[in-house]
Amino acid sequence: MSISSLFFKGAVLWFVAGTSVGMQMGLSGNHNFIDAHAHLNLLGWVSSALFGCFYKLHPIIAAKRRTWVHFTLYNAGLALMLPSLYLVQAGYEWAEPLMQIGSTLTWAGVIVFAILVVTAPGLGKNGVGI
Ligand code: HEM
Ligand code: HEM
Repeated sequence: MSISSLFFKGAVLWFVAGTSVGMQMGLSGNHNFIDAHAHLNLLGWVSSALFGCFYKLHPIIAAKRRTWVHFTLYNAGLALMLPSLYLVQAGYEWAEPLMQIGSTLTWAGVIVFAILVVTAPGLGKNGVGI
């Protein structure tokens, strides 16, 4: 499966989780989970969908093996960070170190993406640019 499709599949799963927490807050009237909801939707759904769009627009970059490092670090980080953030907001403070490790992994994934974009040869030329 292409890296672009993988990011979109991940994005949709995070979207379901993010909107579910939104529904939970809306229906219960307990808005304690704003941070978990915001980051499930913005890091999970929106940013992953943007990565998917970017890789679809740039097949030369998408063909690089390091995109898998980006995908794995980013999503493994989110899988640790976001449920832990939810637990922290539910009052389980023991989950805080897990949240910190997860967010560090996610951030490392962002750095790998940034390096891929900045070092891409010919970005903007020969029809591969935005
Ligand atoms: C079924 C869909 C959704 C529901 C039911 C929902 C519900 C909510 C609720 C109840 C709050 C708390 C509001 C407050 O206490 O001030 C909230 C906040 C928020 N939502 Fe959603 N939401 C949904 C989708 C989304 C999506 C798709 C995004 C982003 C792409 C998003 C981004 C945010 C953000 C950033 C906040 C925090 C705003 C702040 O910092 O005050 N939500 N949402
Ligand atoms: C590893 C990445 C990220 C980390 C560690 C992070 C961390 C944080 C922290 C610590 C806060 C303050 C929460 C509070 O005071 O309760 C926050 C708030 C916020 N962040 Fe992030 N953030 C990240 C990525 C993003 C991204 C990519 C977006 C948008 C695309 C975003 C949107 C927001 C918004 C809208 C708020 C305010 C709403 C809220 O209180 O939840 N964040 N973030």
